[in-house]
Amino acid sequence: MLIKDISFNKVKNMTHNIAILPGDGIGPEIIAEAVKVIEFLRQHAGFDATMTTAPVGGAGYDAAGKPLPDDTLSLVKACDAILLGAVGGPQYEALPREMRPERGLLGLRSELALFSNLRPAILYPQLADASSLKPEIVAGLDIMIVRELTGGIYFGQPREITEKDGERYAYNTAGYKESEIERIGRSAFDIAMKRDKRVCSVDKANVLEVSELWREVMENVAKDYPEVELSHMYVDNAAMQLVKWPKQFDVMVTSNLFGDVLSDCAAMLTGSIGMLPSASLDANGKGMYEPIHGSAPDIAGMGVANPLATILSVAMMLRYSLNEEALAQRIEAAVGKVLDQGLRTADIMSDGCTEVNTMAMGDAVVAAL
Ligand code: IPM
Ligand code: MG
Repeated sequence: MLIKDISFNKVKNMTHNIAILPGDGIGPEIIAEAVKVIEFLRQHAGFDATMTTAPVGGAGYDAAGKPLPDDTLSLVKACDAILLGAVGGPQYEALPREMRPERGLLGLRSELALFSNLRPAILYPQLADASSLKPEIVAGLDIMIVRELTGGIYFGQPREITEKDGERYAYNTAGYKESEIERIGRSAFDIAMKRDKRVCSVDKANVLEVSELWREVMENVAKDYPEVELSHMYVDNAAMQLVKWPKQFDVMVTSNLFGDVLSDCAAMLTGSIGMLPSASLDANGKGMYEPIHGSAPDIAGMGVANPLATILSVAMMLRYSLNEEALAQRIEAAVGKVLDQGLRTADIMSDGCTEVNTMAMGDAVVAAL
């Protein structure tokens, strides 16, 4: 019993072991600012944590000849939570598929069974002008996209580029087991219970068998959550509705591929993808946290990237994996305060505000803490 208690990573007042994976492009710059925030909490807020850094993605390939080096994999398996920057860069695009940075990310997801991907799309009131949509369409936007992350067409077998009828032919397999649909469904309904209690399940059940099963299993899961209202929407319509009237959604749950596409669409509704964090969770609450934006190789090394999505990813980590809700809220409040002060990185700059670089933004958040 005692052993079980101390090994359970949600117990409070124990050392949290955090793996830090800066990755590629702007990854190291934005991670450095998030590390400052963690360091501050360690020194001034009684947050008991260790941080260990390891390479992944292109950096993993450079350091150890593969995008998910063995040492990095051992580290993330042993830790309580992972903070990731971003992976990918033009210098790695010509590598064979298995060696590309994205494989490091996909490997982390599948090796750690991080099946539940939470991608919030929140419009900060201070940034209402940043959206390309009319303010009345997006003001107060707060959607949570729950994307299945370890199954579907991303991982389905068989898959190959082969030959058929004298020409090249390629295919992938989009499949879901009932149990995989059920567990992502439960993730979404659990989250909806803490929000507005509405789940919209997105599929393509008018065409695909896999979606037919998806819909049926979602209906069954819904029976255990009588307070939550479940609706279904075809993915093409969901894309349209996201742009037309996004505030109709509370929680959206969908498959790996549909979630990839819809979460970018939802993120852009806010006009500030540099602000959005994400969580990828396993069945026990262990998770990997990363900004939604990518490695932005075009601005890498310039010190102008927005570190707020990564800093807000730390807040999500505190909330979902480390049972430190108060500290999570403290970080979120500090980010709000910095926005109120009119500080903006280039991506969210607007008239009358003060443009700051990556480091100055990180320092401002620490000061606001
Ligand atoms: C994402 C990214 C990844 C994905 C890529 C980098 C493999 O687009 O996290 O959304 O497709 O899942
Ligand atoms: Mg994507």
